[in-house]
Amino acid sequence: MKLVPLFAAILIGTGGVAAAAPADPADADRRAAATEAQMTDAERFHLLHSHLPIIIEPGKPARLIPGLPVVPGVVTGIERLGIPVIAESDASLGVVNPFQLREGDVATALPASLALAASFDPALAYASGAMIGGEAHAKGFNVLLGPGVNLTRDPRNGRNFEYLGEDPLLSGILGGEASRGIQSAGVVSSIKHFALNDQETLRRTLDARMEEAALRESDLLAFEIAIERGQPGAVMCAYNQVGGFYACDNDFLLNQVLKGDWGYKGWVMSDWAAVHDASYFNAGLDQQSGAELDRKVWFDEPLKAEYAAGRVSKERLSDAVRRILRSLYAVGADHPPVQTPIDYDADGKVAQAEEAAGIVLLKNEGVLPLAAKPQSILVVGGYAIAGVMAGGGSSQVTPVGGEAAIIPNDVHWLVKRPVGQLIVPSAPVRALKAALPAAKISYDSGYDTDEAAVHAARADVVIVFATKWQTEGLDAGNLSLPGGQDELIQAVAKANPNTVVVLETGNPVLMPWLAGVKAVIEAWYPGQKGGEAIAAVLSGTVNPSGRLPITFPASEDQNPRGPLPALGQEDGSQLSAEENMVRYPEGADAGYRWFAAHDHQPLFPFGHGLSYTRFEHGALALRGGDTVKASFSVRNIGEREGQYVAQLYLLNAAGQPVERLAAFGKLDLQPGESRKLSLEVDPRLLADWDQHGWLIKAGEYRFALGESARHLGPVATVKLGERRLQP
Ligand code: BGC
Repeated sequence: MKLVPLFAAILIGTGGVAAAAPADPADADRRAAATEAQMTDAERFHLLHSHLPIIIEPGKPARLIPGLPVVPGVVTGIERLGIPVIAESDASLGVVNPFQLREGDVATALPASLALAASFDPALAYASGAMIGGEAHAKGFNVLLGPGVNLTRDPRNGRNFEYLGEDPLLSGILGGEASRGIQSAGVVSSIKHFALNDQETLRRTLDARMEEAALRESDLLAFEIAIERGQPGAVMCAYNQVGGFYACDNDFLLNQVLKGDWGYKGWVMSDWAAVHDASYFNAGLDQQSGAELDRKVWFDEPLKAEYAAGRVSKERLSDAVRRILRSLYAVGADHPPVQTPIDYDADGKVAQAEEAAGIVLLKNEGVLPLAAKPQSILVVGGYAIAGVMAGGGSSQVTPVGGEAAIIPNDVHWLVKRPVGQLIVPSAPVRALKAALPAAKISYDSGYDTDEAAVHAARADVVIVFATKWQTEGLDAGNLSLPGGQDELIQAVAKANPNTVVVLETGNPVLMPWLAGVKAVIEAWYPGQKGGEAIAAVLSGTVNPSGRLPITFPASEDQNPRGPLPALGQEDGSQLSAEENMVRYPEGADAGYRWFAAHDHQPLFPFGHGLSYTRFEHGALALRGGDTVKASFSVRNIGEREGQYVAQLYLLNAAGQPVERLAAFGKLDLQPGESRKLSLEVDPRLLADWDQHGWLIKAGEYRFALGESARHLGPVATVKLGERRLQP
């Protein structure tokens, strides 16, 4: 691989000042215009592509380009104008050490983003963003490639664990807060992957098809809300095509929707190896990322040739450059960050709090919380003696303490890169021993089902840890737990009636053994302090409050699609246009909306999650006007403190049956305590998209408070007048 000549680098971390306070946006605009006006065209073009400082050649170990920060994307600085190095790091679940090339460099590994989504807690999203932003800044990086807000449309998607579930409001609000948190540390956040990057199979070529209205009301709405709230400095366009055009070459998505309708002022960067031509620039792509991964460094000589030939305007060139500079200035990311020590203990607490809030208690027939009495507890399976599972791909963090284990795998023939399962060193067995000192806790790997069942029969309680690893680049072929774990759980539950299952999965799974076990918790990929958080929920020092951000189907045929289109095709396969086409039959009705429209009874619905206490809500009062305001009281009628997650669903919009999460909130309540909660509905959730934009139709709107998307009540209605919203 050949690198183009670089400008003199001001290497990040070699000096400078700490993160500056974010600038006033108007000031950032002015500064960007002033700097850009002083630039030569060569300098302008210099900012339009980031380099991959890692040389990856098939069959050889990855090598580094000396003198550059080891990150997936770097643009060297322009000293004479005070433009710093742009050093871009992955991101969604912590600061990633790519291929572990930064020797010995670790970072706090957050749980899967699904855990964050399950917390239904915007403040936690902000705190986790601020934590990652802080670590990135302290390591010398000023752009973070996250968060991801693609909606779950298929529970087999290998990257769902990096995203925030199936609902546009929840994903949008939490994604926006995570982004705001990142930027509070003076680090640019890049929201990704824009848009409809909702399966990994054929991700680099597939052509996602969806009507505009459905797209605007679902995936685009998640981005729209996240971008409004988070004001991310960058947006990363996706690999796939949308409506026949690559997402990074998509005038509709980039110029019309993002920069036009939404007035987005930051820059659009491509995903890595997502650019196939210099012409993408005019379609709205501002920067080619990790450019050496593409067939050509399109945004260097080929783009210069387009400019020289008059096919790229001076105005467009200036616009792209100003967007990049503006974001650096607006976020305060224009100062080379100083490498500073990181307080990993404090950051580990953020990871633990996120996991504790994101664990979902799916079923509990009286066995949890575990009593703090002398009893024998057998822990089975899931590597629980070593640590907790992490998802794979570019979001995989090398955790503090290093990996507890890597279950190796070869270069996967589908994604053509090494894959291995990383175990984060937060062992549930150790944490359980600390949480329940009076208990006798032992471990069985579960390798031999019969032997595990024999041991299980002798214990008072059995906790089976079941894992399903997922990774970027690969979708799951089905929704089952792999490797005989269903049989293991069945055998253990038969031997011991007090069996608890802890799931570490990046997606919903089927549970053929559900009736035979006493309790189930979904812990997702639990992160740096996952073992501790799981032990706290099992032992009851934390009262679980997570709610599912994703529907758990009862069977695979409840999904909108049958077998995954093109499952098993290699990344980059050359297929016909028809074979590449991926249709999403559910349209705007992703997840629970599809289940409601087809009256499918899921295994566990969106929004479901139990607590060790109980809540009761009073009548629902609604007020109309420009939008709907809901108020009601909630009382903790149980014996212990707990967190209540309010879910307000729209059930009928001017005569049209729908189901939409219209607002949500979270309250902490002491036993017996009652509080009033008011929620305001984002008017876009009341509206439909027609060819002129959002329209709220005149008529009656029926709402319900829900324990979940399936357990609804009390109900109330409100009348609204017709109203058109700005796109
Ligand atoms: C992923 C992005 C990631 C980028 C850089 C791509 O393969 O899709 O999410 O940010 O690599 O590592």
